[in-house]
Amino acid sequence: MKGIILAGGTGTRLLPLTAVTSKQLLPVYDRPMIFYPLNTLIQAGITDILIIVAPDHSGHFLNLLGSMFRKFGINLSFIVQKSPRGLAEAFILAEDFIDGEATTLVLGDNIFEDDFTEAIRSFEKGGRIFAKEVPDPERFGVVEFDADGKAISIEEKPSSPKSMFAIPGVYIFESSVVEVAKGLELSERGELEITDIHQYYLKRGMLDVRVIEGAYFDTGTHESLFAASAYVREHDFRSRFDPRINEALADFNAEFKRLVSLRK
Ligand code: TTP
Repeated sequence: MKGIILAGGTGTRLLPLTAVTSKQLLPVYDRPMIFYPLNTLIQAGITDILIIVAPDHSGHFLNLLGSMFRKFGINLSFIVQKSPRGLAEAFILAEDFIDGEATTLVLGDNIFEDDFTEAIRSFEKGGRIFAKEVPDPERFGVVEFDADGKAISIEEKPSSPKSMFAIPGVYIFESSVVEVAKGLELSERGELEITDIHQYYLKRGMLDVRVIEGAYFDTGTHESLFAASAYVREHDFRSRFDPRINEALADFNAEFKRLVSLRK
């Protein structure tokens, strides 16, 4: 299983915070946002991770993460997405990286209380996505279930949602997703839509949709970014991170301080 983090985009809803750095490097309580999606993948045992970044801030990601996980045998690669052409473009940009294996794609600004380890490790074929009950489903892709709990429709940001179940940003797909993504056409808003990929697998009876219960934040707005910081502090997410991430951060801070002291 390969892992991809989508950490590009423009972050316009968070201006001016995102004028000089990337949204996914902004703090969520005590660490940059990107460590939350990294944790989702690392705690599931994924050791090959591709981070997709926007051109303006690519150097910042390298400076922070470049060699941070090498001692744990976790390999991070980086690729630049020239312009934000949509979430589904990730699978096209990552074609060589995916190299015929299954992939878990995580959005760089999504923070979860749930642990996806079992869902990732037990994945076999088709696609597996998740559903989370939210008060404002019209902001998301929305999935409708029948009386037996089977997913029957998926719509992108519908003005009249058929359910309160949003599709959060963790998507697991077999390698055929690369060809599916290549076959997509741009939507009216000029993006390759991840919802079109979901619909492709749903129509063929190849999409598993699992409901998650834990807290979920899409930190794209000032309100949700603030709420996420408060929640992870209150619920001590720090101690729930994969120990390798906490160790890597402690090493990074120690090395940073050492270099600062040498400069004095
Ligand atoms: P969004 O929050 O939909 O987009 P954005 O980050 O550009 O923010 P805004 O709407 O405020 O301008 O993106 C969700 C996640 O996916 C986020 O981590 C950015 C990332 N992303 C990409 O990496 N490439 C893309 O083409 C898009 C659309 C998003």
